[in-house]
Amino acid sequence: MKAIDIRNKYLKFFESKGHSVIPSAPLIPENDPSVLFTTAGMQPLVPYLLGQKHPAGTRLTDYQKCVRTNDIDEVGDNRHLTYFEMLGNWSLGDYFKEESIQMSFDFLTKELQIPVEKLSVTVFKGDEDCPRDEVAAECWKKAGILDGHIYYYGKDDNWWIAGEEGPCGPDTEMFYDTGKPACSENCQPSCDCGKYVEIWNNVFMEYFKDKDGKYSKLSQRNVDTGLGLERMTMLLQGKETPFDTELFKPVMDKIAELQKVDKIESRRIVAEHLRASMMIIADGGRPSNVDRGYVLRRLIRRAIRHMNKLQIDLAEISTLIAIYVENLKKMYPDLETKKDEIIAVLVEEKDKFVKTLTHGEKEFTKAMNNSKQAGKNKIDGAVVFKLYDTYGFPPEVTKELAEENEMEVDMKEFEELFKAHQEKSRQGSAQKFKGGLAGDSEIETKYHTATHLLNAALKLVLGADTHQRGSNITTERMRFDFNCDHKMTDEEKQKTEEIVNKWIQEDLPVTVEEMSKEDAIKSGAECMFIEKYPDIVTVYSIGDVSKELCGGPHVKHTGEIGTFKIKKEEASSAGIRRIKAVIGD
Ligand code: ALA
Repeated sequence: MKAIDIRNKYLKFFESKGHSVIPSAPLIPENDPSVLFTTAGMQPLVPYLLGQKHPAGTRLTDYQKCVRTNDIDEVGDNRHLTYFEMLGNWSLGDYFKEESIQMSFDFLTKELQIPVEKLSVTVFKGDEDCPRDEVAAECWKKAGILDGHIYYYGKDDNWWIAGEEGPCGPDTEMFYDTGKPACSENCQPSCDCGKYVEIWNNVFMEYFKDKDGKYSKLSQRNVDTGLGLERMTMLLQGKETPFDTELFKPVMDKIAELQKVDKIESRRIVAEHLRASMMIIADGGRPSNVDRGYVLRRLIRRAIRHMNKLQIDLAEISTLIAIYVENLKKMYPDLETKKDEIIAVLVEEKDKFVKTLTHGEKEFTKAMNNSKQAGKNKIDGAVVFKLYDTYGFPPEVTKELAEENEMEVDMKEFEELFKAHQEKSRQGSAQKFKGGLAGDSEIETKYHTATHLLNAALKLVLGADTHQRGSNITTERMRFDFNCDHKMTDEEKQKTEEIVNKWIQEDLPVTVEEMSKEDAIKSGAECMFIEKYPDIVTVYSIGDVSKELCGGPHVKHTGEIGTFKIKKEEASSAGIRRIKAVIGD
């Protein structure tokens, strides 16, 4: 079965069970620059898992583009991917364990025709926060899972949460037996030997974990599921790796044709990273030195390095992208319209990286000569780190060059420095992830509404074609990007502030309504990416001064905001200005 058929079968099956098919959200979370990438189908649905009413109902299904980069260095082996597609279905306070398990069982055994002997499942074994999930185990037995195919594990295996804080719960995972021999008598689904492959995860999301690690019950019981499309395709086709399926094969074959040196890991890395980069760029990502831009930069540069290893002309990037676009345009039509833009971004980054490599090599030679003059046959780890940190010169390349020059390299010292550096950025990212998901505290809710007021005020001061280009809210401040061709004058800033404060003082009511996307556009509601919204949307209005498509949450009356003050106005990028503002009592 082809990936596209699995995807269609999935959506159709869940549609037949009363689910609304909702569109895939962008990889770069909307209105939420604090989260690096969409990492799971549930991520854009957090407000609804927490109790907000979803316009499409209580049963949803979709295919969601996801990027997970914790395992970036593992890509090249036979299973790790950074970009993948997750098929999912959700119950928002609707059905729970029994129906969810029965539907999963039916989909796997009837629609995909997986023999029941090949299926094993795992359920939560219970601890002080949540009881042993005998209900799920019973449901599996009733559905038809064979005796001896149900395993109980603890939180490490059978509990799911995105990040540190948020909606979560025990899960039940489904495993596919590849038929490979057991690695030992104890071989079971939790084992990494490759006999069992996880194919689907159903999370029974009825808890909320707060930032102190405490669990409380959510106002509703949800189900959140995720099935990895690439992996399922590989298994159903009896392939060893996702790279052998039609999702990658045309590009893998082209790379093999272009290469002058044969290296399977490098071929996979080039194919995987270019696909991930393409999808990120299509959703507006651009390489940079921070956050998601840095992840994208790493992906592109790693792909280029491995193209060099395969001795493929770097100009062939555009050939490989063209193959992907051709194969994927049916599912992602925007890839075709954005093809030239995607290639242009990749080529620009390639040119920069080629310069970095040339520059880095010069610095390397200097460092090597210094070591030699000092009578050393070894390059310090600190030098490797400096080359990496300051010039972006990859440590693997330093190592290769050193070996070519018969020098040793202190990679251990480098690893230590690198780990310390990584820990620092990991803490930064975890912080951001938290910020993204926890965006509906009282103060953040006020900032949300203030953002709409600012958007409306800027239109009055700078002109009606001033639009939001991004926003970010923390508990301390709001940041708002908008198109504007000049630095705002003091007068303009003051005027904007006055208008927002006037609206706050008028204590305008904030109202929400559902309508079709068409009606919303006709009514003049403001919105950043209209094509990304489902057919039925929520529209928030503030008195008659603002009307925006938005998922909320918002205050009930603008008076709750207190006061509004612009702290800074600065350039964000070409033609885009950025305001930082605070609210207070
Ligand atoms: N959110 C769950 C996962 O990503 C389904 O595994």
